[in-house]
This record gives sequence, C-alpha cells and structure tokens, in this order.
Amino acid sequence: MNESAQSLSSASFSTGGEKRSARITRREAIAKTLKAGAGISMLSQAGGLLRGATETPPRSPSAADSMIVTLTINGAVHTLAIEPRVTLLDALREHLGMYGTKKGCDHGQCGACTVLVNGERVNSCLTLAVMHPGDDITTIEGLADGDTLHPVQAAFIKHDAFQCGYCTPGQICSAVALIKEDRAKTDGEISEQMAGNICRCGAYQNIVAAVREAMQPTG
Ligand code: FES
Ligand code: FES
Repeated sequence: MNESAQSLSSASFSTGGEKRSARITRREAIAKTLKAGAGISMLSQAGGLLRGATETPPRSPSAADSMIVTLTINGAVHTLAIEPRVTLLDALREHLGMYGTKKGCDHGQCGACTVLVNGERVNSCLTLAVMHPGDDITTIEGLADGDTLHPVQAAFIKHDAFQCGYCTPGQICSAVALIKEDRAKTDGEISEQMAGNICRCGAYQNIVAAVREAMQPTG
C-alpha cells in the first residue's frame, strides 16, 4: 500500500491524552459518517422545534401581496394577479402556461428567455411583469402566421440552426429584432450582435447562415 493510501485508511485518535493508532476500514468510515449525518439531522430537527416556539414562520404569498397587471402578449390581453417580484419570464411560463420561452440561467447570461417588447429584444428573466402594462410583447408562439412560419423560423429549419433546440426560441426572437435593427451586414456582425444568445450545442455557424438568409430582402 502506498503512503497516500495508508493515510486514507488509517488514522490516529487522541482520547484523554492517550494516543493510539487504529486502522479504519472503508465500511467503518461510512458507518461513522452516516451516524454523524443522523445526529446532525436530529439536531437540526430539534433546532426547528425550538425556533418554531419563538419565531414567526415565513409568510406565504397571499392576495394582499399581489398586483393586478394586464399584459398584451401575441395580440391577446391577459390580466394576472401576481406578486410584483414575478419576472416576465415566470409570468409567461408559470402563470400563463406559455412554455415556448425558455429559462436557462435566469440571470441574464444566456438569452434563452429572449422575447420582443415593443419590437426590441429583452431578456425576460431580467424584467418584472408588472413593468409591462400596455407594452406589446411577442414570444416565439406569436411569430408564425397561422401555419405559415416566420421567415426566421423557416430559415432556422432550412439551415439546421439547432440541435437540442433549447436556445432556439431565444435565438429566433433575437434574430427577428436584429434584422429589424438593420445593423448587422456581415457574418461577423451577425455573430457579434447575437452574442447574448448562447448555444450550448455550438450551432453558431448554422445560426449565422439562417440569420443571413432571413435578412435578405424577399421578392
Ligand atoms: Fe434569461 Fe438566461 S434565462 S438570460
Ligand atoms: Fe442546443 Fe442551442 S441548439 S443549446
């Protein structure tokens, strides 16, 4: 057995000033760990009982915490009673059941939650729903015209601009706004100005190709 293996499998204990060496098997070590874990669990439960006697338990959200907000999403008006802290992303997914907009990081770093607010791309995880009464909100569900896909959606399919598809709703909403912004003229500029939308599958080359095609004037 080498030196490091020995140090893992043996230990010295000091009891009342008397030092002795002992070898501990893996099974014994696991048993000790489980016992310690059980002790910690019992202590924390006891702590909970003691705290319960002196502290007020956390208050769950009630109607008094809610605000009424009217959101216009994909042309439809929705009235919600929600807490002011609810993000636009959570309002869409958790309160309206619109799961097309994806939650990735929930911290403004991945772009999966991108929607259009008055035509501009916005990370819906970084804005509160109550800030948007009267705004025109468009999600991925609102881009197609019936059975006719939006040109950006069609271009993404044509160029295989996705693999797992998780980033795709955000990529497409971002691309729709980018084309309207009319600032990207080259592949490099498309990449740069889509940089807020991360694709973990690395489909960037195909995404750029799709956006390039969608930005070409039709007819
Ligand atoms: Fe909003 Fe990542 S989920 S930026
Ligand atoms: Fe999978 Fe972009 S297609 S993360």
